[in-house]
Amino acid sequence: MDLGLKDKVILITGGAEGIGAAISQACMAEGAIPCIVTRDSAAVQGFAASLRARQQRFELIILELDSPRSCRQAVEVALQRCHRIDALVNNAGINDKVGLESGSPEEFLASIQRNLWHYYSMAHYALPSLKAAHGSIVNIASKTAITGQGGTSGYAAAKGGQLALAREWAVELLPFGIRVNAIVPSEVMTPAYTNWIATFPEPDAKLRSITAKIPLGRRMTEPDEIASMALFLLSERASHITGQHLFVDGGYVHLDRAID
Ligand SMILES: NC(=O)c1ccc[n+]([C@@H]2O[C@H](COP(=O)([O-])OP(=O)(O)OC[C@H]3O[C@@H](n4cnc5c(N)ncnc54)[C@H](O)[C@@H]3O)[C@@H](O)[C@H]2O)c1
Repeated sequence: MDLGLKDKVILITGGAEGIGAAISQACMAEGAIPCIVTRDSAAVQGFAASLRARQQRFELIILELDSPRSCRQAVEVALQRCHRIDALVNNAGINDKVGLESGSPEEFLASIQRNLWHYYSMAHYALPSLKAAHGSIVNIASKTAITGQGGTSGYAAAKGGQLALAREWAVELLPFGIRVNAIVPSEVMTPAYTNWIATFPEPDAKLRSITAKIPLGRRMTEPDEIASMALFLLSERASHITGQHLFVDGGYVHLDRAID
């Protein structure tokens, strides 16, 4: 299916690892130009080298998204290099385990800043370009916004905020034809997930116990499966879809947990 995304500039936060990397690769497969905004690391540089080998256009903007200023800079650099922004994928984030009891109000605020502030700030600064392009926004949220997880108040609140903002922005941006949606993943094997599972005394057993509860196929969701939904939502193929929360999770959140 041609998604009609050829030469579209798609700003993707955290787009060089995990779910974001899958979205960047899917963009390139569609002939779009991923404009990746991320902090630096060896993994990021390795990913960029693998993209360079494809001899297709992409952009890499190395920044820590920790303030409105860095988000404004990300948008400015993207515009200097690409002269337009057709879509924004807010994806960067980390489950940083700031619990109600284990954390503190200061750590809670820092978690919100780490996980929610840049979603708003990136959309705020990219908005004039998105208006010009009649663009689209996708927020990558998390099941924790719906199910809770325990011990992660900041992340859960940020993820709930991302879902609320997808709906709020969908309303505010109706007059401009800008569609805004959120994707809700549950269990996706990524570098962050690998690190998290390694914190358990028996990681393999823990992983088996999780996948056994995923109704469709008793397996993790692949990053590519999130990417497919993201690209569809960004494309004109989703031209009458806005303000939606799309669960790409093998039925993990909604199906009967008593299923054998
Ligand atoms: N993996 C899962 O199972 C899962 C489940 C639900 C939701 N999510 C959400 O999906 C998104 C991507 O998660 P992932 O598992 O691919 O993570 P990941 O850590 O594997 O990849 C995220 C990338 O974003 C970068 N990044 C994070 N915060 C940043 C910041 N403030 N500034 C610059 N770069 C930053 C990281 O360095 C990393 O390169 C996150 O929003 C996460 O909450 C993931």
